[in-house]
Amino acid sequence: MGAHVSVASVIWHDLECGAYRADLPLWRELARSQGTGTILEIGAGTGRVTLDLARSAHAMIAVERDDELAAELTRRSRGLPVEVVCADACYFELEARVSLCIVAMQTVQLLADRPAFLRCAHASLTAGGVLALAVLGLDVQPFEVELDADVVEHRGVRYASAPTALRETGEQVALERRRTTFDGSAGSVSLDVTTLARLEPATLAAEGIAAGFAYRDLLSVPPSAEHVGSQVVLLEAIPR
Ligand SMILES: C[S@@+](CC[C@H](N)C(=O)[O-])C[C@H]1O[C@@H](n2cnc3c(N)ncnc32)[C@H](O)[C@@H]1O
Repeated sequence: MGAHVSVASVIWHDLECGAYRADLPLWRELARSQGTGTILEIGAGTGRVTLDLARSAHAMIAVERDDELAAELTRRSRGLPVEVVCADACYFELEARVSLCIVAMQTVQLLADRPAFLRCAHASLTAGGVLALAVLGLDVQPFEVELDADVVEHRGVRYASAPTALRETGEQVALERRRTTFDGSAGSVSLDVTTLARLEPATLAAEGIAAGFAYRDLLSVPPSAEHVGSQVVLLEAIPR
């Protein structure tokens, strides 16, 4: 899979997100319990979740804003029941409704206009369809220390990404990573900062209810050695 990759954004995305597995059993079980309906994933990246479910014969629609990640997901999903839509999660429309919408890996905390996203998600779901949203778990604590780097080598270039800090500032949580590349003779170092909105499950549930959902459940994904845990808010679309 990685052998074809040449776009830096794809390499960094795979390195920083691609190896996470702890949440997959939860998405598989939700997909199984929803039956045969099409599943929508929001912010699908290069397809960690979408491809996993599509390989179990679930029909998938993957919305991803980044055109390079969307193109790579299109390439990786050849032969699988996956439709990739390159769009902003806050302003999208589907041709047919789906029965389950998955928002993994705290992606909902990246969205600039959550109420707009919730309206789009509601309009995309069948009556009784489920919206599942992962938010940062309770175990998350600020830190400022360089952790072990994830490393990959691609076409003679070594890419390393090490978390260096997690800062809570007012309404936001910022995860900082040091990214380094080295091709054997020269290297580069940069700081990547991912900023998430602070978001409690109860707040998200209340926003969902305002957008036409009913609260259904709160599940959790335990922390792993390398990743924080998450809480997963389940909402059910009520017909308007
Ligand atoms: C943390 S990654 C998660 C990727 C994938 N869902 C997974 O679990 O491995 C967040 C993804 O959401 C995408 N994203 C962020 N904001 C978005 C938006 N407004 N609309 C669509 N996608 C977005 C990013 O480009 C990135 O691919």
